[in-house]
Amino acid sequence: MKDLIFQRHRRLRQSGSIRNMVRETQISAHDFIHPLFVVEGENIKNEIKSMPNVYQWSLDLLNDEIDEVVELGIQSVILFGVPKTKDEVGSSAYDDEGIVQKAIRQIKERHPELTVIADTCLCQFTDHGHCGIVKEGKVLNDPTLDLLAQTAVSQAKAGADIIAPSNMMDGFVAAIRHGLDQAGFEDVPIMSYAVKYASAFYGPFRDAAHSTPQFGDRKTYQMDPANRLEAIREAQSDIEEGADFLIVKPALSYLDIIREVKDLSGYPVVAYNVSGEYAMIKAASENGWVDEREIVLEKLMSMKRAGADIILTYHAKDAAKWLKG
Ligand code: PBG
Repeated sequence: MKDLIFQRHRRLRQSGSIRNMVRETQISAHDFIHPLFVVEGENIKNEIKSMPNVYQWSLDLLNDEIDEVVELGIQSVILFGVPKTKDEVGSSAYDDEGIVQKAIRQIKERHPELTVIADTCLCQFTDHGHCGIVKEGKVLNDPTLDLLAQTAVSQAKAGADIIAPSNMMDGFVAAIRHGLDQAGFEDVPIMSYAVKYASAFYGPFRDAAHSTPQFGDRKTYQMDPANRLEAIREAQSDIEEGADFLIVKPALSYLDIIREVKDLSGYPVVAYNVSGEYAMIKAASENGWVDEREIVLEKLMSMKRAGADIILTYHAKDAAKWLKG
């Protein structure tokens, strides 16, 4: 044994304080974006069956939730609207009196310092549940762009700090940037869902946002999970069109993509820890099969280690509490 030459990695693991000194990745409540589902109506706090402890909120009940988020040190929220009426062209998405626009105004009035991000998509607002205008069973690209730009401008007018387009039409960043600039919102950043895969991990979200496509699927606009080089092209074109942040979605099965997008772009990267990833951990922890606190913090850490600067996660409030305690 005496003549063996090897490295003693365990030297740096021998106590909690040494481990703290050499830890390469930190997470804090500042890293999180807290997702909120806002619904039209009154007195609604509706738990989503497939997402324990995640609710649809009507605006009259929203203030307590927002106060708690701020109290926990979380600095930003993203809004998903669940409107009362849907139509072919998603009119309630770009209505100045729409549910998202009202929520933005209410939140900004109560907490001006909280960064409010608006998800910009049509699928919750169209009766067919697709993210764009549909004709003869096809989701049309270019006619959808105008409506997205209108939606973004309406959200910015309501006071949104960041616009987050998620619908995966080609050119959506260019169209939205142009629309915002024309309307005098050149300082409103775009957090683009640049790399969004057609994923089975979105299932629970579609229950929460009532956005399941009524025919077909989203594979003609969201990406094939098999593709890595395409993710680079998607990120590249969004940067050229004027994106300020790049979202990679989902996160957990796509950590390689997060790393690649970060290294190649140097842009702020957001990991979207999606609904199905949340639901799986919730189900396993409710059964006592995994330790929820440990597994959530490990998972969020892994996203930052992979290169994410920011994490959009349904665990935000819990994680912020655990990191405090
Ligand atoms: C809307 C949108 C979706 C998600 C975020 N924005 C659903 C989809 O594309 O079907 C999914 C988020 C999640 O699963 O947590 N386009």
